[in-house]
Amino acid sequence: MKEKLSKIRVEALEQINAPDANLEEIKVKYLGKKGELTAVLRGMGALSAEERPIVGQLANEVRESIEAALNEKKSELQAKALQEQLKAEKLDVTMPGTPSPVGHIHPLTRAQRELEDIFIGMGFSIAEGPEVELDYYNFQALNIPENHPARDTQDTFYITDNILLRSQTSPVQVRVMEHQKPPIRIISPGRVYRSDALDATHSPLFHQLEGLVIDKGITMGDLKGTLEVFAKKMFGEETKIRFRPHHFPFTEPSAEVDVSCFVCGGKGCRLCKGEGWIEILGAGMVHPFVLSNCGIDPEEYSGFAFGLGIERITMARYGIDDIRLFYENDERFLEQF
Ligand code: DAH
Repeated sequence: MKEKLSKIRVEALEQINAPDANLEEIKVKYLGKKGELTAVLRGMGALSAEERPIVGQLANEVRESIEAALNEKKSELQAKALQEQLKAEKLDVTMPGTPSPVGHIHPLTRAQRELEDIFIGMGFSIAEGPEVELDYYNFQALNIPENHPARDTQDTFYITDNILLRSQTSPVQVRVMEHQKPPIRIISPGRVYRSDALDATHSPLFHQLEGLVIDKGITMGDLKGTLEVFAKKMFGEETKIRFRPHHFPFTEPSAEVDVSCFVCGGKGCRLCKGEGWIEILGAGMVHPFVLSNCGIDPEEYSGFAFGLGIERITMARYGIDDIRLFYENDERFLEQF
């Protein structure tokens, strides 16, 4: 029996230390209820009274050494696993990070915000109007009745005979005057639509900014002063403005307004096509017909309005020669701003 126990110990320890040892299996095999050591202990009844305690003690020793070897091997394996995990999950916090690309606002949005800031600085507030608009606001109330030739140059997209995508931001003038008593001093930026084919200078969708001032005693001098301050803030302090007579149905008198070329200072260059001047907006004194349409007495009040194209101004400013670049989302273009 003693030899049997010694053999069990030797075998068990050998197996525990084998490189691919399955500790649970070994434990069951030797120490389990049906294990080899248990079997030996069961057979102890056959021993003599003198031998029994000696074999009993030996059996205990064998069990203890197997248990100790199992535990030791187990902690060894755990330590090794931890070591491997630490190695695999090593994180070098001093390594340079992977930069995530950061975008920036679109040049048109930036221009719009800049324009807003300039006019807010002059006491204007921002008004908004719908892009899906009634014919009445987009045309009729602005003195553009059916069959007026101005409808040709502002052909747009119709939802019904009466509902269309606005072709200009001017309808916001009417909406504001209907609901607000003078003094009025607003700008209204936003999208407008025209049924134009897309080419280098036309787009079926573009952006305008409308301005409107109504009060007692407003004159063309106020219009000129306001636009001059605006032009200097937008294009530089040396900028001059020039009014050219024009016609818009909703203003009288009307003008197209140019700024002196901010590249050549007026001498003539590629940007201003040798003119020395760059056209930036349309403006005029609000037509009495428009005022009375909105319930404002033209005998008591007068005002001016202007409308500019945000794309046009941005293109002039940066020397961009193709409007399509704004809408193509080509990073090679956008990242330059
Ligand atoms: N709405 C005009 C256009 O789209 C621009 C314009 C001209 C607006 C004169 C005005 C203005 O307010 O007074 O061509």
